[in-house]
Amino acid sequence: MSENSLNPEEKGQEEKEKQAQTRAGHRGRKQQRLKQLYPKPQQTTLQCIHDRSLKAVVIGLGYVGLPMAVEMAQSGYQVHGIDIDAGKVAKLRAGHSYIIGIEDEVLQTLLEANRLTAGTDYAAVAGADVIVICVPTPLTDKHQPDISYISSAVGGMTPYLQLGSLVILESTTYPGTTEEHVKQPVEAARGWTAGEHFYVCYSPERVDPGSVHYGVKNTPKIIGGSTPACLNYGTQFYGSFLNEVVPVSSTTVAETAKLFENTFRSVNIALVNELTPACEQMGVDIWEVLQAAATKPFGYMPFYPGPGIGGHCIPIDPIYLSWAANRQGSELRFIELADATNRQMPEHVVQRATALLEQRGRSIRGARVVLAGMAYKKDIDDLRESPALDVFRLLSVAGADVVFTDPMVPVFRQDDGSMLQSRPASPELWTWADLVIITTDHSAFDYQEMADHAPLIFDTRNATAGCNGDNIVVLGQPERHDYGRAQSLVQEKVAERETGDGYGES
Ligand SMILES: NC(=O)c1ccc[n+]([C@@H]2O[C@H](COP(=O)([O-])OP(=O)(O)OC[C@H]3O[C@@H](n4cnc5c(N)ncnc54)[C@H](O)[C@@H]3O)[C@@H](O)[C@H]2O)c1
Repeated sequence: MSENSLNPEEKGQEEKEKQAQTRAGHRGRKQQRLKQLYPKPQQTTLQCIHDRSLKAVVIGLGYVGLPMAVEMAQSGYQVHGIDIDAGKVAKLRAGHSYIIGIEDEVLQTLLEANRLTAGTDYAAVAGADVIVICVPTPLTDKHQPDISYISSAVGGMTPYLQLGSLVILESTTYPGTTEEHVKQPVEAARGWTAGEHFYVCYSPERVDPGSVHYGVKNTPKIIGGSTPACLNYGTQFYGSFLNEVVPVSSTTVAETAKLFENTFRSVNIALVNELTPACEQMGVDIWEVLQAAATKPFGYMPFYPGPGIGGHCIPIDPIYLSWAANRQGSELRFIELADATNRQMPEHVVQRATALLEQRGRSIRGARVVLAGMAYKKDIDDLRESPALDVFRLLSVAGADVVFTDPMVPVFRQDDGSMLQSRPASPELWTWADLVIITTDHSAFDYQEMADHAPLIFDTRNATAGCNGDNIVVLGQPERHDYGRAQSLVQEKVAERETGDGYGES
Protein backbone atom coordinates (compact mmCIF):
# COMPACT_ATOMS: atom_id res chain seq x y z
CA MET A 1 0.00 0.00 0.00
CA SER A 2 1.43 3.37 -0.92
CA GLU A 3 1.65 6.11 1.71
CA ASN A 4 -0.66 8.27 -0.39
CA SER A 5 -3.43 5.69 -0.18
CA LEU A 6 -3.69 5.99 3.67
CA ASN A 7 -6.46 8.11 5.21
CA PRO A 8 -5.37 10.91 7.66
CA GLU A 9 -6.19 8.80 10.75
CA GLU A 10 -4.09 5.84 9.51
CA LYS A 11 -1.28 8.23 8.54
CA GLY A 12 -1.24 9.63 12.11
CA GLN A 13 -1.10 6.14 13.58
CA GLU A 14 1.79 5.15 11.30
CA GLU A 15 3.66 8.33 12.24
CA LYS A 16 3.29 7.55 15.96
CA GLU A 17 4.61 4.00 15.43
CA LYS A 18 7.59 5.36 13.48
CA GLN A 19 8.38 7.82 16.26
CA ALA A 20 8.14 5.09 18.90
CA GLN A 21 10.51 2.88 16.86
CA THR A 22 12.94 5.79 16.47
CA ARG A 23 12.86 6.45 20.25
CA ALA A 24 13.44 2.77 21.00
CA GLY A 25 16.27 2.79 18.48
CA HIS A 26 17.83 5.84 20.16
CA ARG A 27 17.60 4.20 23.57
CA GLY A 28 19.20 1.00 22.28
CA ARG A 29 21.97 2.94 20.52
CA LYS A 30 22.55 5.06 23.68
CA GLN A 31 22.88 1.94 25.86
CA GLN A 32 25.22 0.42 23.27
CA ARG A 33 27.28 3.60 23.08
CA LEU A 34 27.52 3.70 26.88
CA LYS A 35 28.78 0.10 26.85
CA GLN A 36 31.30 0.87 24.09
CA LEU A 37 32.54 3.98 25.86
CA TYR A 38 32.79 2.28 29.19
CA PRO A 39 32.94 -1.45 28.69
CA LYS A 40 34.59 -2.63 31.96
CA PRO A 41 34.21 0.11 34.51
CA GLN A 42 35.79 -1.62 37.49
CA GLN A 43 38.95 -2.59 35.63
CA THR A 44 39.41 0.89 34.19
CA THR A 45 38.86 2.64 37.51
CA LEU A 46 41.09 0.34 39.51
CA GLN A 47 43.87 0.88 37.00
CA CYS A 48 43.73 4.69 37.46
CA ILE A 49 43.97 4.19 41.24
CA HIS A 50 46.86 1.81 40.80
CA ASP A 51 48.91 4.09 38.56
CA ARG A 52 47.76 7.30 40.34
CA SER A 53 46.44 8.77 37.08
CA LEU A 54 43.03 9.29 38.75
CA LYS A 55 41.81 12.89 38.83
CA ALA A 56 39.66 14.06 41.73
CA VAL A 57 37.47 17.10 42.30
CA VAL A 58 36.53 18.22 45.81
CA ILE A 59 33.43 20.43 46.02
CA GLY A 60 33.49 22.67 49.11
CA LEU A 61 36.93 23.62 50.42
CA GLY A 62 36.22 24.24 54.10
CA TYR A 63 37.29 22.52 57.33
CA VAL A 64 36.51 19.13 55.79
CA GLY A 65 37.10 19.59 52.06
CA LEU A 66 40.50 21.27 52.11
CA PRO A 67 42.26 18.71 54.37
CA MET A 68 40.74 15.90 52.27
CA ALA A 69 41.90 17.56 49.02
CA VAL A 70 45.40 17.97 50.45
CA GLU A 71 45.56 14.34 51.63
CA MET A 72 44.52 13.08 48.17
CA ALA A 73 47.00 15.36 46.42
CA GLN A 74 49.80 14.31 48.78
CA SER A 75 49.10 10.68 47.92
CA GLY A 76 49.86 11.45 44.27
CA TYR A 77 46.44 12.18 42.77
CA GLN A 78 45.74 15.33 40.80
CA VAL A 79 43.10 17.25 42.73
CA HIS A 80 41.00 20.25 41.77
CA GLY A 81 38.93 22.05 44.41
CA ILE A 82 35.72 23.90 43.62
CA ASP A 83 34.24 26.44 46.01
CA ILE A 84 31.61 29.14 45.50
CA ASP A 85 33.63 31.39 47.82
CA ALA A 86 35.96 33.21 45.42
CA GLY A 87 37.93 34.60 48.38
CA LYS A 88 38.88 31.11 49.58
CA VAL A 89 39.81 30.07 46.04
CA ALA A 90 42.03 33.14 45.63
CA LYS A 91 43.80 32.43 48.94
CA LEU A 92 44.33 28.83 48.00
CA ARG A 93 45.72 29.69 44.59
CA ALA A 94 48.11 32.11 46.29
CA GLY A 95 49.27 29.30 48.59
CA HIS A 96 47.69 30.76 51.72
CA SER A 97 45.92 28.35 54.02
CA TYR A 98 42.83 29.41 55.94
CA ILE A 99 42.49 26.10 57.82
CA ILE A 100 44.44 25.36 60.99
CA GLY A 101 46.60 22.29 60.50
CA ILE A 102 47.19 22.93 56.78
CA GLU A 103 50.46 24.78 56.41
CA ASP A 104 51.12 27.29 53.62
CA GLU A 105 54.27 25.39 52.61
CA VAL A 106 52.25 22.20 52.08
CA LEU A 107 49.82 24.04 49.81
CA GLN A 108 52.62 25.76 47.94
CA THR A 109 54.45 22.48 47.26
CA LEU A 110 51.26 20.90 45.90
CA LEU A 111 50.42 23.98 43.81
CA GLU A 112 53.90 24.10 42.31
CA ALA A 113 53.72 20.41 41.43
CA ASN A 114 50.31 21.11 39.84
CA ARG A 115 48.79 18.38 42.01
CA LEU A 116 46.36 20.84 43.60
CA THR A 117 44.38 23.50 41.74
CA ALA A 118 41.25 25.44 42.64
CA GLY A 119 38.45 27.37 40.99
CA THR A 120 34.80 28.35 41.20
CA ASP A 121 33.62 26.71 37.96
CA TYR A 122 31.84 23.33 37.95
CA ALA A 123 33.05 22.70 34.39
CA ALA A 124 36.19 21.20 36.00
CA VAL A 125 34.04 18.18 36.96
CA ALA A 126 34.22 17.13 33.28
CA GLY A 127 37.81 15.98 33.76
CA ALA A 128 37.27 14.15 37.06
CA ASP A 129 37.16 10.43 37.84
CA VAL A 130 36.11 11.02 41.45
CA ILE A 131 34.01 13.87 42.85
CA VAL A 132 33.89 14.35 46.63
CA ILE A 133 31.20 16.67 48.01
CA CYS A 134 32.02 18.45 51.31
CA VAL A 135 29.50 21.30 51.48
CA PRO A 136 27.77 22.56 54.65
CA THR A 137 24.66 20.93 56.11
CA PRO A 138 23.30 23.45 58.65
CA LEU A 139 19.85 23.77 60.17
CA THR A 140 17.11 25.99 58.77
CA ASP A 141 15.51 28.79 60.80
CA LYS A 142 12.91 26.20 61.80
CA HIS A 143 15.62 23.96 63.29
CA GLN A 144 15.34 21.40 60.49
CA PRO A 145 17.96 19.88 58.12
CA ASP A 146 19.05 22.25 55.36
CA ILE A 147 20.42 20.17 52.50
CA SER A 148 20.15 22.96 49.96
CA TYR A 149 23.98 23.15 49.66
CA ILE A 150 24.09 19.46 48.71
CA SER A 151 21.35 19.93 46.10
CA SER A 152 23.10 22.96 44.70
CA ALA A 153 26.44 21.09 44.43
CA VAL A 154 24.74 18.09 42.78
CA GLY A 155 22.89 20.39 40.37
CA GLY A 156 26.11 22.19 39.52
CA MET A 157 28.20 19.09 38.83
CA THR A 158 25.65 16.83 37.10
CA PRO A 159 25.88 18.30 33.57
CA TYR A 160 29.66 17.78 33.61
CA LEU A 161 29.87 14.27 35.08
CA GLN A 162 31.74 11.85 32.87
CA LEU A 163 30.75 8.24 32.40
CA GLY A 164 32.25 5.96 34.99
CA SER A 165 32.85 8.68 37.54
CA LEU A 166 32.47 8.08 41.26
CA VAL A 167 30.51 10.64 43.31
CA ILE A 168 31.08 10.53 47.08
CA LEU A 169 29.05 12.61 49.50
CA GLU A 170 30.97 13.41 52.70
CA SER A 171 28.71 16.09 54.20
CA THR A 172 26.99 14.94 57.38
CA THR A 173 23.33 14.31 56.65
CA TYR A 174 20.23 12.25 57.44
CA PRO A 175 19.75 8.67 56.20
CA GLY A 176 18.41 8.60 52.65
CA THR A 177 20.06 11.80 51.43
CA THR A 178 22.61 10.10 49.18
CA GLU A 179 20.00 7.99 47.43
CA GLU A 180 17.34 10.71 47.19
CA HIS A 181 19.44 13.80 46.58
CA VAL A 182 22.59 12.55 44.85
CA LYS A 183 21.93 9.25 43.06
CA GLN A 184 18.37 9.85 41.88
CA PRO A 185 18.88 13.40 40.49
CA VAL A 186 21.92 12.26 38.49
CA GLU A 187 20.09 9.21 37.17
CA ALA A 188 17.10 11.35 36.19
CA ALA A 189 19.15 14.10 34.54
CA ARG A 190 21.61 11.87 32.68
CA GLY A 191 19.56 8.72 32.06
CA TRP A 192 22.32 6.67 33.72
CA THR A 193 22.13 3.88 36.25
CA ALA A 194 24.22 3.95 39.42
CA GLY A 195 26.59 1.02 39.59
CA GLU A 196 26.70 0.74 35.78
CA HIS A 197 27.34 4.15 34.25
CA PHE A 198 28.48 6.02 37.33
CA TYR A 199 29.08 5.22 40.98
CA VAL A 200 27.71 6.72 44.20
CA CYS A 201 28.96 6.40 47.79
CA TYR A 202 28.45 8.06 51.14
CA SER A 203 31.47 8.39 53.40
CA PRO A 204 31.19 10.65 56.45
CA GLU A 205 34.07 12.87 57.47
CA ARG A 206 35.04 12.37 61.12
CA VAL A 207 37.77 15.02 61.38
CA ASP A 208 38.43 16.31 64.89
CA PRO A 209 39.55 19.93 64.39
CA GLY A 210 42.58 20.84 66.44
CA SER A 211 43.43 17.21 67.24
CA VAL A 212 47.11 16.40 67.14
CA HIS A 213 46.46 12.65 67.24
CA TYR A 214 43.85 12.08 64.55
CA GLY A 215 43.74 13.55 61.06
CA VAL A 216 42.28 12.55 57.70
CA LYS A 217 44.79 9.75 57.16
CA ASN A 218 44.62 7.82 60.43
CA THR A 219 40.91 8.17 61.21
CA PRO A 220 39.08 5.03 60.01
CA LYS A 221 36.81 5.93 57.08
CA ILE A 222 33.30 4.46 57.00
CA ILE A 223 31.87 4.03 53.50
CA GLY A 224 28.60 2.78 52.04
CA GLY A 225 27.77 2.40 48.35
CA SER A 226 24.52 2.59 46.40
CA THR A 227 25.42 -0.80 44.86
CA PRO A 228 28.18 -3.37 45.50
CA ALA A 229 30.10 -1.98 42.48
CA CYS A 230 29.87 1.55 43.93
CA LEU A 231 31.13 0.33 47.32
CA ASN A 232 33.96 -1.55 45.66
CA TYR A 233 35.18 1.54 43.79
CA GLY A 234 34.84 3.80 46.83
CA THR A 235 36.64 1.33 49.10
CA GLN A 236 39.49 0.94 46.61
CA PHE A 237 39.76 4.70 46.24
CA TYR A 238 39.95 5.61 49.95
CA GLY A 239 41.98 2.50 50.69
CA SER A 240 44.63 3.79 48.30
CA PHE A 241 45.55 6.73 50.56
CA LEU A 242 43.95 6.26 54.00
CA ASN A 243 45.08 3.85 56.72
CA GLU A 244 41.76 2.11 57.28
CA VAL A 245 38.47 1.91 55.40
CA VAL A 246 35.33 0.46 57.01
CA PRO A 247 32.84 -0.69 54.35
CA VAL A 248 29.19 -0.97 55.40
CA SER A 249 26.22 -2.43 53.57
CA SER A 250 24.53 0.77 52.39
CA THR A 251 24.76 4.53 52.16
CA THR A 252 22.02 4.83 54.80
CA VAL A 253 24.01 2.80 57.35
CA ALA A 254 27.02 5.08 56.76
CA GLU A 255 24.83 8.21 57.10
CA THR A 256 23.23 6.94 60.31
CA ALA A 257 26.54 5.83 61.84
CA LYS A 258 27.94 9.37 61.53
CA LEU A 259 24.84 10.92 63.10
CA PHE A 260 24.87 8.35 65.89
CA GLU A 261 28.51 9.06 66.76
CA ASN A 262 27.80 12.73 67.34
CA THR A 263 24.48 12.02 69.05
CA PHE A 264 26.39 9.78 71.46
CA ARG A 265 28.66 12.72 72.26
CA SER A 266 25.80 15.19 72.60
CA VAL A 267 23.85 12.93 74.99
CA ASN A 268 26.88 12.16 77.17
CA ILE A 269 27.96 15.80 77.31
CA ALA A 270 24.39 16.66 78.30
CA LEU A 271 24.53 14.09 81.09
CA VAL A 272 27.58 15.75 82.68
CA ASN A 273 26.18 19.22 81.99
CA GLU A 274 22.99 18.24 83.81
CA LEU A 275 25.01 16.93 86.74
CA THR A 276 27.09 20.13 86.93
CA PRO A 277 24.63 22.49 88.69
CA ALA A 278 23.53 19.58 90.87
CA CYS A 279 27.14 19.02 91.99
CA GLU A 280 27.53 22.75 92.67
CA GLN A 281 24.48 22.61 94.93
CA MET A 282 25.56 19.37 96.61
CA GLY A 283 29.01 20.80 97.23
CA VAL A 284 30.67 18.04 95.21
CA ASP A 285 33.56 18.69 92.83
CA ILE A 286 32.36 17.24 89.49
CA TRP A 287 35.88 17.27 88.03
CA GLU A 288 37.17 15.06 90.81
CA VAL A 289 34.16 12.78 90.35
CA LEU A 290 34.87 12.47 86.62
CA GLN A 291 38.55 11.88 87.22
CA ALA A 292 37.78 9.12 89.69
CA ALA A 293 35.17 7.52 87.40
CA ALA A 294 37.66 7.56 84.51
CA THR A 295 39.91 5.13 86.37
CA LYS A 296 37.42 2.37 85.55
CA PRO A 297 39.23 0.46 82.83
CA PHE A 298 36.09 -0.80 81.07
CA GLY A 299 32.56 0.37 80.31
CA TYR A 300 33.21 4.06 80.90
CA MET A 301 34.27 6.96 78.68
CA PRO A 302 34.89 10.43 80.13
CA PHE A 303 32.94 13.51 79.02
CA TYR A 304 33.32 16.93 80.61
CA PRO A 305 31.05 19.86 81.42
CA GLY A 306 31.43 23.24 79.80
CA PRO A 307 29.62 26.44 78.81
CA GLY A 308 27.62 24.58 76.12
CA ILE A 309 28.20 22.83 72.81
CA GLY A 310 29.43 24.32 69.56
CA GLY A 311 30.81 23.69 66.10
CA HIS A 312 29.23 22.35 62.96
CA CYS A 313 28.59 18.87 64.40
CA ILE A 314 27.44 18.26 67.97
CA PRO A 315 24.67 20.91 68.11
CA ILE A 316 23.41 20.01 64.61
CA ASP A 317 23.89 16.35 63.71
CA PRO A 318 21.57 14.89 66.39
CA ILE A 319 18.80 17.13 65.07
CA TYR A 320 19.27 15.57 61.61
CA LEU A 321 18.83 12.14 63.20
CA SER A 322 15.75 13.04 65.22
CA TRP A 323 14.22 14.78 62.19
CA ALA A 324 14.74 11.66 60.05
CA ALA A 325 13.27 9.42 62.77
CA ASN A 326 10.34 11.79 63.26
CA ARG A 327 9.42 11.72 59.61
CA GLN A 328 9.05 7.93 59.94
CA GLY A 329 6.94 8.36 63.07
CA SER A 330 9.61 7.66 65.73
CA GLU A 331 10.50 10.00 68.53
CA LEU A 332 14.09 10.21 69.81
CA ARG A 333 13.57 11.77 73.21
CA PHE A 334 17.16 11.53 74.41
CA ILE A 335 18.24 13.79 71.53
CA GLU A 336 15.69 16.46 72.36
CA LEU A 337 16.48 16.36 76.07
CA ALA A 338 20.25 16.48 75.43
CA ASP A 339 19.84 19.41 73.04
CA ALA A 340 17.76 21.36 75.56
CA THR A 341 20.16 20.55 78.43
CA ASN A 342 23.25 21.58 76.49
CA ARG A 343 21.61 24.78 75.25
CA GLN A 344 20.84 25.80 78.85
CA MET A 345 24.52 25.92 79.78
CA PRO A 346 25.33 29.48 78.60
CA GLU A 347 22.44 30.69 80.73
CA HIS A 348 23.72 28.73 83.73
CA VAL A 349 27.19 30.24 83.22
CA VAL A 350 25.78 33.77 83.18
CA GLN A 351 23.57 33.10 86.21
CA ARG A 352 26.54 31.74 88.13
CA ALA A 353 28.73 34.67 87.04
CA THR A 354 26.03 37.09 88.16
CA ALA A 355 25.77 35.38 91.54
CA LEU A 356 29.55 35.35 92.00
CA LEU A 357 29.72 39.10 91.39
CA GLU A 358 26.75 39.75 93.67
CA GLN A 359 28.35 37.71 96.45
CA ARG A 360 31.25 40.16 96.16
CA GLY A 361 29.01 43.21 96.30
CA ARG A 362 29.07 43.89 92.57
CA SER A 363 26.13 43.98 90.16
CA ILE A 364 26.42 42.38 86.73
CA ARG A 365 25.06 45.63 85.30
CA GLY A 366 28.06 47.75 84.45
CA ALA A 367 30.52 45.05 85.55
CA ARG A 368 33.61 44.65 83.40
CA VAL A 369 33.68 41.11 82.08
CA VAL A 370 36.39 39.57 79.90
CA LEU A 371 35.51 36.39 78.01
CA ALA A 372 38.70 34.40 77.58
CA GLY A 373 38.07 32.41 74.39
CA MET A 374 35.33 32.78 71.78
CA ALA A 375 36.04 29.65 69.68
CA TYR A 376 33.81 26.69 70.44
CA LYS A 377 36.79 24.50 71.23
CA LYS A 378 40.37 24.62 72.44
CA ASP A 379 43.09 25.72 69.98
CA ILE A 380 40.87 26.23 66.95
CA ASP A 381 39.50 29.37 65.30
CA ASP A 382 35.96 28.14 64.59
CA LEU A 383 33.17 30.32 65.99
CA ARG A 384 30.26 28.38 64.53
CA GLU A 385 27.57 27.77 67.17
CA SER A 386 30.13 28.65 69.85
CA PRO A 387 28.52 28.80 73.31
CA ALA A 388 30.78 31.78 74.09
CA LEU A 389 28.67 33.79 71.61
CA ASP A 390 25.59 33.06 73.73
CA VAL A 391 27.42 33.88 76.96
CA PHE A 392 28.56 37.15 75.39
CA ARG A 393 25.01 37.97 74.25
CA LEU A 394 23.43 37.17 77.63
CA LEU A 395 26.01 39.23 79.53
CA SER A 396 25.46 42.19 77.20
CA VAL A 397 21.70 41.94 77.70
CA ALA A 398 22.29 41.91 81.47
CA GLY A 399 24.12 45.21 81.08
CA ALA A 400 27.70 44.03 81.58
CA ASP A 401 30.58 45.77 79.84
CA VAL A 402 31.88 42.71 77.94
CA VAL A 403 35.08 42.37 75.92
CA PHE A 404 36.85 39.25 74.71
CA THR A 405 40.30 37.88 74.12
CA ASP A 406 41.06 34.93 71.85
CA PRO A 407 44.45 34.19 70.31
CA MET A 408 42.76 32.28 67.47
CA VAL A 409 39.85 34.64 66.75
CA PRO A 410 40.91 38.21 66.00
CA VAL A 411 37.40 39.55 65.47
CA PHE A 412 33.73 38.54 65.62
CA ARG A 413 30.50 40.00 64.33
CA GLN A 414 27.99 41.04 67.01
CA ASP A 415 24.23 40.65 66.59
CA ASP A 416 23.92 44.28 65.51
CA GLY A 417 26.44 43.65 62.69
CA SER A 418 29.29 45.59 64.28
CA MET A 419 32.70 43.94 64.52
CA LEU A 420 34.40 43.45 67.86
CA GLN A 421 38.17 43.02 68.09
CA SER A 422 39.93 40.60 70.39
CA ARG A 423 41.91 42.31 73.18
CA PRO A 424 45.47 41.19 73.75
CA ALA A 425 45.66 38.74 76.67
CA SER A 426 47.81 40.66 79.15
CA PRO A 427 48.11 41.51 82.86
CA GLU A 428 46.48 44.88 82.01
CA LEU A 429 43.40 43.16 80.60
CA TRP A 430 43.04 40.80 83.57
CA THR A 431 43.51 43.72 85.99
CA TRP A 432 40.94 45.82 84.12
CA ALA A 433 38.25 43.17 84.56
CA ASP A 434 35.89 42.68 87.48
CA LEU A 435 35.44 39.13 86.26
CA VAL A 436 37.22 36.92 83.71
CA ILE A 437 35.18 34.00 82.38
CA ILE A 438 37.24 31.26 80.76
CA THR A 439 34.99 30.08 77.96
CA THR A 440 37.64 28.30 75.83
CA ASP A 441 40.68 26.56 77.30
CA HIS A 442 43.19 27.62 74.62
CA SER A 443 46.75 26.45 75.31
CA ALA A 444 48.10 29.93 74.55
CA PHE A 445 46.56 31.54 77.64
CA ASP A 446 48.84 31.95 80.64
CA TYR A 447 46.39 30.86 83.33
CA GLN A 448 48.67 31.56 86.28
CA GLU A 449 49.26 35.09 85.00
CA MET A 450 45.49 35.46 84.69
CA ALA A 451 45.04 34.20 88.27
CA ASP A 452 47.75 36.57 89.53
CA HIS A 453 46.06 39.65 88.09
CA ALA A 454 42.32 39.11 87.70
CA PRO A 455 40.23 39.90 90.78
CA LEU A 456 37.87 37.02 90.01
CA ILE A 457 37.94 34.14 87.50
CA PHE A 458 35.04 31.91 86.61
CA ASP A 459 36.55 28.93 84.80
CA THR A 460 34.02 26.92 82.77
CA ARG A 461 36.65 24.45 81.44
CA ASN A 462 38.76 23.56 84.47
CA ALA A 463 41.67 25.16 82.61
CA THR A 464 43.06 26.59 85.86
CA ALA A 465 43.55 23.19 87.52
CA GLY A 466 47.01 23.45 89.01
CA CYS A 467 46.97 27.26 89.24
CA ASN A 468 47.23 28.98 92.58
CA GLY A 469 44.63 31.53 93.61
CA ASP A 470 41.55 31.72 95.80
CA ASN A 471 40.06 34.09 93.24
CA ILE A 472 39.25 31.12 90.96
CA VAL A 473 35.82 29.51 90.81
CA VAL A 474 35.39 26.49 88.55
CA LEU A 475 32.11 25.43 86.95
CA GLY A 476 30.83 22.34 88.73
CA GLN A 477 33.13 22.85 91.69
CA PRO A 478 32.47 24.27 95.12
CA GLU A 479 34.40 27.50 95.65
CA ARG A 480 37.99 26.91 96.75
CA HIS A 481 37.98 29.14 99.83
CA ASP A 482 36.06 31.99 101.32
CA TYR A 483 35.87 35.08 99.18
CA GLY A 484 38.60 36.89 101.19
CA ARG A 485 41.14 37.97 98.59
CA ALA A 486 38.73 38.03 95.66
CA GLN A 487 36.23 40.22 97.47
CA SER A 488 38.80 42.79 98.46
CA LEU A 489 40.24 42.83 94.91
CA VAL A 490 36.81 43.47 93.39
CA GLN A 491 36.22 46.25 95.89
CA GLU A 492 39.61 47.76 95.11
CA LYS A 493 38.71 47.66 91.41
CA VAL A 494 35.44 49.49 91.99
CA ALA A 495 37.25 52.18 93.98
CA GLU A 496 39.91 52.50 91.25
CA ARG A 497 37.23 52.83 88.59
CA GLU A 498 35.79 55.79 90.37
CA THR A 499 39.17 57.50 89.98
CA GLY A 500 39.34 56.21 86.34
CA ASP A 501 41.97 53.79 85.00
CA GLY A 502 40.61 53.66 81.48
CA TYR A 503 41.98 50.33 80.15
CA GLY A 504 40.16 48.86 77.15
CA GLU A 505 36.84 50.66 77.28
CA SER A 506 34.54 49.06 74.76
N1 LIG B 1 33.99 21.03 60.63
C1 LIG B 1 33.99 19.83 61.16
O1 LIG B 1 34.60 19.61 62.20
C2 LIG B 1 33.26 18.67 60.51
C3 LIG B 1 33.58 17.37 60.92
C4 LIG B 1 32.96 16.30 60.32
C5 LIG B 1 31.97 16.53 59.37
N2 LIG B 1 31.64 17.80 59.00
C6 LIG B 1 30.62 17.98 57.97
O2 LIG B 1 31.27 18.29 56.73
C7 LIG B 1 30.45 19.19 55.96
C8 LIG B 1 31.25 20.43 55.62
O3 LIG B 1 31.57 21.08 56.83
P1 LIG B 1 32.75 22.13 56.91
O4 LIG B 1 33.01 22.32 58.35
O5 LIG B 1 33.86 21.76 56.00
O6 LIG B 1 32.01 23.42 56.32
P2 LIG B 1 32.71 24.79 55.82
O7 LIG B 1 31.67 25.82 55.89
O8 LIG B 1 34.00 24.97 56.54
O9 LIG B 1 33.07 24.48 54.31
C9 LIG B 1 32.11 24.27 53.33
C10 LIG B 1 32.57 24.95 52.07
O10 LIG B 1 31.64 24.65 51.03
C11 LIG B 1 31.50 25.80 50.22
N3 LIG B 1 30.26 25.67 49.46
C12 LIG B 1 29.00 25.85 49.90
N4 LIG B 1 28.12 25.56 48.91
C13 LIG B 1 28.87 25.20 47.84
C14 LIG B 1 28.54 24.78 46.53
N5 LIG B 1 27.27 24.67 46.13
N6 LIG B 1 29.55 24.51 45.68
C15 LIG B 1 30.84 24.62 46.06
N7 LIG B 1 31.20 24.99 47.30
C16 LIG B 1 30.22 25.27 48.18
C17 LIG B 1 31.56 26.95 51.20
O11 LIG B 1 31.91 28.15 50.56
C18 LIG B 1 32.63 26.47 52.17
O12 LIG B 1 33.92 26.90 51.80
C19 LIG B 1 29.22 19.46 56.81
O13 LIG B 1 28.21 18.56 56.45
C20 LIG B 1 29.69 19.14 58.22
O14 LIG B 1 28.64 18.76 59.06
C21 LIG B 1 32.28 18.87 59.55
